[in-house]
Amino acid sequence: AEQPPLKIMISGAPASGKGTQCELITQKYGLVHISAGDLLRAEIASGSENGKLAKEYMEKGQLVPDEIVVMMVKDRLSQTDSEKNGWLLDGYPRSSSQATALKGFGFQPDLFIVLEVPEDILIERVVGRRLDPVTGKIYHLKYSPPETEEIAARLTQRFDDTEEKAKLRLKTHNQNVSDVLSMYDDITIKIKGNRSKEEVFTQIDTALSQMLQQRNTSPSSL
Ligand code: AP5
Repeated sequence: AEQPPLKIMISGAPASGKGTQCELITQKYGLVHISAGDLLRAEIASGSENGKLAKEYMEKGQLVPDEIVVMMVKDRLSQTDSEKNGWLLDGYPRSSSQATALKGFGFQPDLFIVLEVPEDILIERVVGRRLDPVTGKIYHLKYSPPETEEIAARLTQRFDDTEEKAKLRLKTHNQNVSDVLSMYDDITIKIKGNRSKEEVFTQIDTALSQMLQQRNTSPSSL
């Protein structure tokens, strides 16, 4: 019998590599990548009132209020493509209230991935990050430089990617992380994120293949 699609959450400190790994995971597993941060940046770009309010919090590295974030994520998870292909939720939940809200709507992940990266390398990753507005691809001036001059010339930087703002984001993360982790204890895998992006992906890929294999050999356990 056909298995239900995979549902995964990925969590980790600012610049721990969530977005980078999501690119690789979706390429191989065809899940729909839903990034809370990207949804919020799209809301800002639309010029809406919610976007304006969200930006005030993001500028300070604080969590955007649940009233804005929860429905935004819930609506995206409810779309047909997510239901059909499975989803990879990035940067949500960031508090126990966000986790509880999602559970209340009936969204339960199969796996909770945590990227573990020592704090001292996060800032360097943030400051060197660049984005390609055309493809959406994530680069780093040192660790993942653009392939061509043409791409290099059009790269942009996020408004919250300064050292000062990254430290505020990290502080917020540290205040909330244990609350969130405690809610997914039984389905959590911890990944060593302080390695090349390919090595980090190999760890995730191994865990995902094992999980899919187990599902196929024990369908009655579902
Ligand atoms: P969000 O956009 O989610 O930012 P974040 O959590 O700070 O995470 P980042 O996007 O900075 O990093 P990442 O882990 O994706 O790393 P990446 O792969 O890009 O959130 C922004 C803000 O929105 C929050 O501060 C908050 O205000 C708000 N918000 C978001 N979600 C919310 C929620 N649920 N509730 C309330 N508010 C919310 O990698 C970083 C860099 O490192 C890149 O340059 C990359 O090339 C490089 N890199 C990646 N992997 C490696 C590697 N293995 N080795 C070397 N370099 C690497």
